[in-house]
Amino acid sequence: IYPDDSEASIAIAHRVAKLIKDKQQNNQTTVLGLATGVSPIKVYKELIRLHKEEGLSFSNVVTFNLDEYYPIQPDAEQSYVRFMKQNLFDHVDIDMANVNIPDGTLAQEDIADFCLAYEQKINSYGGIDLQILGIGRTGHIGFNEPGSAPNSGTRLVTLNDLTRRDASKDFGGKDNVPKKAITMGIGTIFKAREIILMAWNEKKASIIKKAVEGGISTDVPATYLQMSANTEFVIDEDAAVELT
Ligand code: F6R
Repeated sequence: IYPDDSEASIAIAHRVAKLIKDKQQNNQTTVLGLATGVSPIKVYKELIRLHKEEGLSFSNVVTFNLDEYYPIQPDAEQSYVRFMKQNLFDHVDIDMANVNIPDGTLAQEDIADFCLAYEQKINSYGGIDLQILGIGRTGHIGFNEPGSAPNSGTRLVTLNDLTRRDASKDFGGKDNVPKKAITMGIGTIFKAREIILMAWNEKKASIIKKAVEGGISTDVPATYLQMSANTEFVIDEDAAVELT
């Protein structure tokens, strides 16, 4: 628990940077699992600063994003492709050929094959070294909404009503928020060697209490993380207020 999100985000960014540098020394690729949304923005800001001011290179980094709305065009204002470019990729030396984000433009009949290939591509790199997560107020991680199975893989899902309401500001009204998304599964996330879940501010306090102290249940998918020995919750004091 950190005093605020700025301090916590800097600490996370420095862990990511250390992982990248350690692997670089051994000529190894770092495979990062990345999230969008408000929570990781300051982490990405610090990674950009480390690149610009301290020479951190992303040349041997491969990334897999958790999710993308479906359907959505990559250049749409709310697309996660656009988000990642604006908040990280356009400002560092990553090779865009190493960037993987679920494709919101697929024809419905091609989604299952795409999802299987996404899983296989993660495996082909030897799995994700570090997965960054936020948490939705439904308890979702990625877009694994209540009802998701612990062994779920990358797939097309239906967004929860609360999730669509929370996204309505970005889309100018809930009716404009896509009803579906493509997300890595709980099982996909679990395979990462290290998982960091971030949550800032009091709006997340009640779901953090449920995720950390509640019984493990599909009603709050983040509770599955209680079964993972590789997961750390990095939160600020405001998100921690309801913890006992
Ligand atoms: C985004 C994602 C979501 C968000 C969650 C929290 O890629 O997978 O699970 O992490 O909805 O969003 P913010 O950070 O905007 O509160």
